[in-house]
Amino acid sequence: MSVTVETRSALEAKAGVLAIPLAKLAENKRLPARITALDKASGGRIQQVVAAGDFDGSKDQVVLVRPDEGIAATRILLLGLGDEKALDATALRAAAGSALRAARRHKANALAILSPAGRRVRAAAAGQALAEGVVLGAYRFDRHQTSDEKDASKKKAQGEIKTALLFEKGADARNARGGAKVGVILAESQNLARDLSNEPPNILPPVALAKAAKDMSQDVGLKVRILEPKELEKLGMGAMLAVGQGSVNPARLIVMEHNAPPKRATKGTRKRKTICLVGKGVCFDSGGLSLKPSASMTKMKHDMSGGATVVGAMRAAALLKVPHHVVGIVGAVENMPSGTAYRVDDVLTSASGKTIEITNTDAEGRLVLADCLDYAQKNYAPAAIIDLATLTGAVIMALGGWAAAVLGNNEALSKAIVAAGEATGERYWPLPLWEVHRDHMRSKIADLRQTGGREAGTTSAAAFLGHFVSDDIPWAHLDIAGVADTERGTSTHVAGATGFGVRSLLEWLRNGKF
Ligand code: BES
Ligand code: MN
Ligand code: ZN
Repeated sequence: MSVTVETRSALEAKAGVLAIPLAKLAENKRLPARITALDKASGGRIQQVVAAGDFDGSKDQVVLVRPDEGIAATRILLLGLGDEKALDATALRAAAGSALRAARRHKANALAILSPAGRRVRAAAAGQALAEGVVLGAYRFDRHQTSDEKDASKKKAQGEIKTALLFEKGADARNARGGAKVGVILAESQNLARDLSNEPPNILPPVALAKAAKDMSQDVGLKVRILEPKELEKLGMGAMLAVGQGSVNPARLIVMEHNAPPKRATKGTRKRKTICLVGKGVCFDSGGLSLKPSASMTKMKHDMSGGATVVGAMRAAALLKVPHHVVGIVGAVENMPSGTAYRVDDVLTSASGKTIEITNTDAEGRLVLADCLDYAQKNYAPAAIIDLATLTGAVIMALGGWAAAVLGNNEALSKAIVAAGEATGERYWPLPLWEVHRDHMRSKIADLRQTGGREAGTTSAAAFLGHFVSDDIPWAHLDIAGVADTERGTSTHVAGATGFGVRSLLEWLRNGKF
């Protein structure tokens, strides 16, 4: 999508929609100095709606005005940002999403957004947030809708919307340009994650997810390897393979690498830290023999959202040239009931050698992750491991659609994830994971039991995973079951997959300390 930073004045911006995000106006309703000239040239239209009480900059206010011909734009869209003191990237991102949606509604081919950058949000951050907002706001998942001729002509009439972000000449514009480039990459990577998660399970079984990851990897220059069931058997990945064995669609292990160290390490590459990102890629979760009731089975195409986020994050890591060795590992399987399916009461041997007593075939995600976490540690010496998974219904009870849960073995890492989420508008909240929880997962007939009962379900799932992670590797488990998809639309989200985690992971990878 085309997003450029321009330095021309708002009066000269040729656009179907000129969006002006404004913080809450002062009591005297006076307009900020930087838009008084624009207001005059447009026939005082902005002052008019303000005087009439139709717009005061309150959060999420959207007011459209038709200016006189003194300015180049056809429409002015006033967007309320809320209290100036609380102004942040999240508010700008949302405003840019609204602007894009308005431009689309009015069939504008060009959108201009007058940057509200200032002391609270600097030019680079503003450029990034605005770019993210328009690219996320433009997202829709309509590739499976056949359009009749009317729709087709509608589509033709409106091609891609060109967006210009208006900044002050000089350092501001330069910084904004850098920020906008980053923002476009991040949002497009998040949109890729959304596409993968939204894709129906008949169209995106494990093999197709692997192909999508491979194609993306080759496009952006990542090293990529896809492992098939035969190889997984050799590696002893009995937990992940058991989950997939009931399906006619075979499993795949996807391994993507950014900045893979050369065979013989040179000065620069030796210092690089390795970070492993692990994703649950259950392309469809029927529950297996512990079959889900129908109502709970819908939307289970999204059960590979953790994997989708890892694929999106790897794309962004490559394009943004993250200065670390980043490895993305996705366990892709389909959980189905059949005569070949794994059973309750089975005892599995995982790649780590630990045996697992199966108690509910619907708790499949932790089995896939157990083998993937083991793979990460056997093949790399990670400075940190982060896994993402739509792992438990319990996290939805605890945090709803408002936040993902973060658990793990390292408080500093968990805190860093929470902070990265705050910076990017993706909320994480910690849940406890203690030794008592790990003990709770021991089995009478195998090393571990798969599930820990109804209580503290998100923690017991994490406690199970903890048995597969070495204590001296910082590890964070992100349970994204409540946030990976949404029924509600916002200015940057349509109903369906959210691509949650891509931007916060990159925030942590680019600015975190480890
Ligand atoms: N994929 C589900 C978790 C889930 C539930 C994600 C609802 C999104 C929305 C997971 O595989 C699962 O079924 N978990 C079980 C575990 C239980 C059997 C211990 C659950 O949470 O009910
Ligand atoms: Mn399940
Ligand atoms: Zn699942």
